[in-house]
Amino acid sequence: MTIPVKIKIRAFRPNDEKDVIQLWKECGLVFPQNDPRKDIRRKLKVQADLFLVAVYGKIMIGTVMGGYEGHRGWINYLAVSPNFQRKGVGRSLMGEIEKLLKKVGCPKINLQVRESNKTVMRFYEKSGYVQDKVASFGKRLVVDDHSVKNRKKAQ
Ligand SMILES: CC(C)(COP(=O)(O)OP(=O)(O)OC[C@H]1O[C@@H](n2cnc3c(N)ncnc32)[C@H](O)[C@@H]1OP(=O)(O)O)[C@@H](O)C(=O)NCCC(=O)NCCS
Repeated sequence: MTIPVKIKIRAFRPNDEKDVIQLWKECGLVFPQNDPRKDIRRKLKVQADLFLVAVYGKIMIGTVMGGYEGHRGWINYLAVSPNFQRKGVGRSLMGEIEKLLKKVGCPKINLQVRESNKTVMRFYEKSGYVQDKVASFGKRLVVDDHSVKNRKKAQ
């Protein structure tokens, strides 16, 4: 499917921050352990050109954050506004980020999906991704204030 011509994919600009965070909230991508503002600021310091947004006129409708550490490419924060889903925007964002990652020499993309997120699994399968037989491990090196604040509130 080709996306409507009014939809443009471009690099993130600093004044997109508010709209992007709102979109991530609508898409269920903001979790207590991740401070979206800090995530954006960190990304702007490392391969900022691999942080893409999709806009429909002035409306923020999609995002994808890519990165390459010299061995694997990574994808995070893929999101399409619920009002614009199933129109090929997600597929176009992935196509664009894959092109950019390939351009910097990346041979393979990895990504993590919450096991409960069956929709996105279908999406990635349709986009040519296969589930690797690996367990995903993580270790937090910096605890964001955001999560501390939220944990305190929950206590
Ligand atoms: C995953 C997501 C980005 C897909 O964006 P999208 O613009 O709707 O996807 P596309 O229209 O490009 O879909 C491409 C194909 O993926 C599959 N697909 C997409 N959404 C699907 C759904 N809800 N159920 C089943 N298949 C789906 C379809 O095969 C679709 O092609 P088709 O519409 O021609 O059948 C969007 O659903 C989303 O933002 N979800 C919430 C945020 C999220 O979970 N992000 C991932 C974090 S890891």
